[in-house]
Amino acid sequence: PTIYAITPTYSRPVQKAELTRLANTLRQVAQLHWILVEDAAARSELVSRLLARAGLPSTHLHVPTPRRYKRPGLPRATEQRNAGLAWLRQRHRHGHGRAQPGVLFFADDDNTYSLELFQEMRTTRKVSVWPVGLVGGRRYERPVVENGKVVSWYTGWRADRPFAIDMAGFAVSLQVILSNPKAVFKRRGSQPGMQESDFLKQITTVEELEPKASNCTKVLVWHTRTEKVNLANEPKYRLDTVNIEV
Ligand code: UGA
Ligand code: MN
Repeated sequence: PTIYAITPTYSRPVQKAELTRLANTLRQVAQLHWILVEDAAARSELVSRLLARAGLPSTHLHVPTPRRYKRPGLPRATEQRNAGLAWLRQRHRHGHGRAQPGVLFFADDDNTYSLELFQEMRTTRKVSVWPVGLVGGRRYERPVVENGKVVSWYTGWRADRPFAIDMAGFAVSLQVILSNPKAVFKRRGSQPGMQESDFLKQITTVEELEPKASNCTKVLVWHTRTEKVNLANEPKYRLDTVNIEV
């Protein structure tokens, strides 16, 4: 199956660095299609050039987050992930239930992904799950597995979540995406940290989840976050004689 990685991304000083690192990972994965969705009113030159040179099959989308949703404490990238989902459904609309084999994964632009992670998710039949490192106020969060089934969640944060899992902790088969055409990320009523649960509730149940990474005992992806860059010494006048893309 082809792996479809949906990556929301937005303009900021570290964007090109993040996307360069992510491209260097994804390029090494066979049969991967990168769906990069800019949080912007138009496709940027920076991202267009980067994708053109990334050396992997890709699709470049864009949709701006409405201003009222750009606030601390509100979920991020809702519209961008939905644009990726809509593109996938549109592209496979002639499948009529006989979808080409595919697996969807939400790959934020700042996380760290091992190559083994992609081997694991490729065998997803419906929805698969695995641990995520450096998240939830702990070294890791993970689905707790007994007799091959997810029975609970090891988490330090909002243990009341129906699926106590980060966006980087699951993959969904294309078939499931196509047979649940209304499953999307919702703004209304979605509290911080509930996006994953709200989405997964629409397409699966905890009993149905397929544990990966040795029954969820290995960390193959890390929820790394990049430090905000210090630009305190950027010149206000006497700018550099060339304008360099960073
Ligand atoms: C956590 C989760 O890991 C994310 O999957 C979830 O979207 C996010 O919380 C949330 O609060 O909604 P966190 O590291 O806090 O992640 O979020 P970011 O990495 O800053 O953003 C997630 C993705 O959305 C990134 O790919 C980022 O580039 C993108 N993003 C962020 C936008 O497209 N627009 C924005 O305004 C902010
Ligand atoms: Mn992040």
